[in-house]
Amino acid sequence: MFEILEKRQLNAQVTLMKIAAPFIAKKVKAGQFVIIRIDEKGERIPLTVEDFDRENGTVSIVFQAVGYSTRRLAALSVGDFISDIVGPLGQPTEFGTPKKAIVIGGGVGCAIAYPQAKALYNMGAQVTVIAGFRNKDIVILEEELKKVSSKTFITTDDGSYGEKGFVTDVLKRLLGEDTYDLVIAIGPIPMMKFVSLATKEFGVKTIVSLNPIMIDGTGMCGGCRVSVGGETKFACVDGPDFDGHLVDFDSLMLRNTGYKAEEEHACKMGGF
Ligand SMILES: Cc1cc2nc3c(=O)[nH]c(=O)nc-3n(C[C@H](O)[C@H](O)[C@H](O)COP(=O)(O)OP(=O)(O)OC[C@H]3O[C@@H](n4cnc5c(N)ncnc54)[C@H](O)[C@@H]3O)c2cc1C
Ligand code: FES
Repeated sequence: MFEILEKRQLNAQVTLMKIAAPFIAKKVKAGQFVIIRIDEKGERIPLTVEDFDRENGTVSIVFQAVGYSTRRLAALSVGDFISDIVGPLGQPTEFGTPKKAIVIGGGVGCAIAYPQAKALYNMGAQVTVIAGFRNKDIVILEEELKKVSSKTFITTDDGSYGEKGFVTDVLKRLLGEDTYDLVIAIGPIPMMKFVSLATKEFGVKTIVSLNPIMIDGTGMCGGCRVSVGGETKFACVDGPDFDGHLVDFDSLMLRNTGYKAEEEHACKMGGF
């Protein structure tokens, strides 16, 4: 059993939870994730480790309440216990030794982009962050991202905060003005697709973190298969990070909507 030690609402839909999980905290690295089951009948929810404290044995997750299980998780309070947390899962991000990097987060993807920016910053890289949101009300982790970057750009689709437009507008401008050796992009699938198309033009290495439907998280079920460079990969064991220039984003988008009817049914039955 894993105790919830801290809970913070980052916006109306997004929650940060700090959880006591000493064995995971000891081993986890940037880019890895855990699978949570709220109780023994619960669905498995893959969530990236947003931050960790090896000394105090805690890990933090940041999640958006999008369906039945994430809404149930958001309804838990400090002092409640989560039945199972398995991890760390997946491969840690392979950063190489970049001197100048751009880290891009879209919406709740900023929670996954944060540990990446932090790791690069701690390695001594010059980090520029671009964080994009639909509007001002859902901006999250701005202060945290500023602390691990030398420049931070916030964009909103409607212009209610930061620059009006998409993260790709700022990205293309930056790539036109200067040279970078790595771009990391994490967010909605269309965002990662268009970031990858933009960086391909400039020949900049691009890492994306994929979020296909996962079940076991250990490479056994094949649920998380993605097409990368014409080869089938399992995101849970081969990823979740992949070369953005090789990912077939269109097939990923299609597969991720495969259970829409069941997901809506689960919400209705669960009273959400
Ligand atoms: C490696 C990985 C890391 C992730 N990290 C985060 C994170 O840090 N924060 C965050 O908010 N979300 C993250 N997600 C997405 C998160 O797992 C889903 O939002 C969650 O499982 C939705 O469950 P639900 O029952 O609430 O919603 P549902 O109504 O069941 O589903 C809503 C949508 O969530 C996705 N989803 C549903 N079930 C799964 C599943 N088993 N595996 C993956 N996606 C699913 C689908 O796109 C679906 O359409 C991550 C996903 C993966 C694969
Ligand atoms: S989740 Fe089953 S193989 Fe990846």
